[in-house]
Amino acid sequence: NPKKLRIAIDGPASAGKSTVAKIVAKDLGYVYCDTGAMYRALTYYALQNGVTPEDEAGLVELLKKMKLRFDPSTAIQKVFINNEEVTEAIRQPDVTNNVSAVSAHGEVRKQLVKYQQLIAADGGIVMDGRDIGTAVLPDAEVKIFMVASVSERAERRFKENTEKGIMTPLETIEKEIAERDYKDSTRAVSPLIQAEDAFLVDTTSLSIDGVVAKIKEIIAKQQ
Ligand code: CDP
Ligand code: CDP
Repeated sequence: NPKKLRIAIDGPASAGKSTVAKIVAKDLGYVYCDTGAMYRALTYYALQNGVTPEDEAGLVELLKKMKLRFDPSTAIQKVFINNEEVTEAIRQPDVTNNVSAVSAHGEVRKQLVKYQQLIAADGGIVMDGRDIGTAVLPDAEVKIFMVASVSERAERRFKENTEKGIMTPLETIEKEIAERDYKDSTRAVSPLIQAEDAFLVDTTSLSIDGVVAKIKEIIAKQQ
C-alpha cells in the first residue's frame, strides 16, 4: 500500500500548475486543492463589499464573515462563498488584477494557510499555489516548482481568455502576468520562490502530457 503523499506544486501564473495537478490527482485518487482560488475568492468578496485590497484589517474581518466551500467532486473544482457559486466570477480580470495586493498581507495569509494545512492534514493531496513547498507544507514528500517563459504563459492565458470571450490583447496580458510575477516574488511574506528541495520543471516547450509524465517520474522516486 503506497504512502498517501503530499504533493506541492508552486510556480507563476499559467505555468500549467492546475491543469497538471488535476490530472495527477485524478490518476492517484488524491484530492486536488487550488489555493489560488482562496485568494481569488477573498479578492472577489472584497471588491463586492467595497473593501480595498490595501485594507488588511478589513480583509481579515471579511474572512470571518466568509464561508468558503470547494466542491472537488466536479471536474472543474466549484467554489462557493456563503453558498453562492463564484467559480467563474473569481477568474474575471478585475479579480486577477487585484489578487496579488490582497495576498500580500501577512494576516490574510496566516488565516488561509491554516485552512490549507487542515485540508492537507491526512495526505493524499496535490496542492498548487505559490508558497506550498516553502510555507504551507514545508515537509511535503514531493515538491515541484513549475515555470515557463513569460511569452509562452501569456499566450496560454490569451487562448484561455479567447475561449471564455475575454478580449484582452496579448501584450496587455503579458504585461499583467509580468507584473503579478514581480509582486508575488518580491512581497515580504512567503514570496513565490523555489524551495531548496523542489524539482524544477520548465514547461515552456512541453505538452500537458509531457509535463504529467515528468511529474509522475518524480513522484515514483519518492514512493
Ligand atoms: O491561476 P493563476 O495562475 O492566474 O493564479 P492563481 O493560482 O489563481 O493565484 C492567484 C494569485 O493568488 C497569485 O497571483 C498570488 O498573488 C496569490 N496566491 C498566493 O499568494 N499564494 C498561493 N498559495 C496561491 C495564490
Ligand atoms: O495553474 P496555472 O496558472 O499554473 O496554469 P494552468 O491554468 O494550468 O494552465 C494555463 C493554460 O496553459 C491552460 O489553458 C493549459 O491548457 C495550458 N497549458 C499548456 O498549453 N501546456 C502545458 N504544458 C500546460 C498548460
